[in-house]
Amino acid sequence: MQIILRNYKDSDFQAVKQNIIDGGIFDPVRDTRENLRKKIKYDPESIIIAEKDGELVGNVFFFEDGWAAHLFRLVVREDYRGKGVAQMLMNEAERRLRDRGIKQQIMFVNEKSPRLIEHYKKQGYKAIGTYRFMRKVFNGENYNS
Ligand SMILES: CC(C)(COP(=O)(O)OP(=O)(O)OC[C@H]1O[C@@H](n2cnc3c(N)ncnc32)[C@H](O)[C@@H]1OP(=O)(O)O)[C@@H](O)C(=O)NCCC(=O)NCCS
Repeated sequence: MQIILRNYKDSDFQAVKQNIIDGGIFDPVRDTRENLRKKIKYDPESIIIAEKDGELVGNVFFFEDGWAAHLFRLVVREDYRGKGVAQMLMNEAERRLRDRGIKQQIMFVNEKSPRLIEHYKKQGYKAIGTYRFMRKVFNGENYNS
């Protein structure tokens, strides 16, 4: 299976948005076209797209500011799961971070996905605590996700 990994560009937005919605981790506050534009302006390598025959089949986001590195929005299209696409995306994100001299990266995994937690453990990740995400939306609107 010939999968190409490349950097996100603005015209990928609809495909990425749909993929993240389908993966169940879309956030309407953060995952806007404008925010993704800003994100790649700060760091053009920070959204990685997996593509097969010109179609998006997966994506992962990271952020890294010299102090911390976190990985988000790892989603593989349902019809491409179980083929190692997530592994490719993770390896590439980790390689980019290591090349920048980053010593560790942290990701957040839903406690309701024990199989996924075990999978990440197999990849060398360790569970380091149980925390609750808390959020304040500055314009005061309520969002459900
Ligand atoms: C998590 C995800 C990216 C894995 O993509 P993938 O390319 O299919 O990865 P793989 O098939 O190599 O499987 C990796 C792990 O996904 C999980 N997984 C795969 N199929 C699964 C299923 N049907 N149900 C639950 N977990 C499953 C398993 O933990 C699996 O690891 P294992 O093979 O060691 O058990 C994909 O399932 C997805 O997009 N899920 C929805 C979004 C999400 O939860 N993202 C993770 C955020 S931390």
